[in-house]
Amino acid sequence: MKGVVLAGGRGTRLRPMTKIMNKHVLPVYDEPMIFYPVRTLLKNGISEILVISAPEYIGGYIQLLEETFENAEFSYKVQDKPAGIAHAIQLAERFVDGTFAVVLGDNIVMDDIREDITGFDDSDEDCMIFLKEVSDPSRYGVAEVEDDRVVDLKEKPDSPETNTAVIGLYLYTSDVFERIPELSKSDRGELEVTDLNRTYIEDDALGYSELDGQWFDVGTPDGLLKASNFVAESR
Ligand code: G1P
Repeated sequence: MKGVVLAGGRGTRLRPMTKIMNKHVLPVYDEPMIFYPVRTLLKNGISEILVISAPEYIGGYIQLLEETFENAEFSYKVQDKPAGIAHAIQLAERFVDGTFAVVLGDNIVMDDIREDITGFDDSDEDCMIFLKEVSDPSRYGVAEVEDDRVVDLKEKPDSPETNTAVIGLYLYTSDVFERIPELSKSDRGELEVTDLNRTYIEDDALGYSELDGQWFDVGTPDGLLKASNFVAESR
């Protein structure tokens, strides 16, 4: 399985820092944020990694990552404009040659998902999402699960039906590249990963796994602080 790290986006919730720098180099305690999604892939056996970021930042990532992770084989791709997570996934089409994992550059996932990866590779499902119970679900994609199947996904609902957040880690087969061009832009003008993943519910091709390890979305000042404190304390 190959891996994709998405390190584009506007980083609006981390302004003003992200006015002049890419969110994914901001420090989580003493290391750049992007080291964490890269490590999530590496520790789960995925070493062929495509990094997608904006044109003005990709050169810096090449320098930083090549120097740091000698055990990884990186490729790079530019996302010309921040047009959404699903738009960025489409840019991985030429890199992918089978199943692949996508991790958002601002997600820190500590769980071991190697069994989920093996299970996905052996299954008939075309997408797998990872779920976690949270106290503030309206900040995230939210899943409704009935009888061991995901029956609905909503992006940042005002009144969530459940406390089950969809974390920023997804497994796909290459059929995703036929689905993304069929999506419509959301109200904020982006191709949303939640709309993409909902298409798999309709086709009964969406699997899920519940994670119980530590997870942080560090795309907000609060998330960044919590993750930094966690990392500092666990040293
Ligand atoms: C994105 C996804 C959302 C997911 C979240 C996880 O939101 O759109 O469904 O729950 O990542 O971090 P963002 O934080 O990019 O707005």
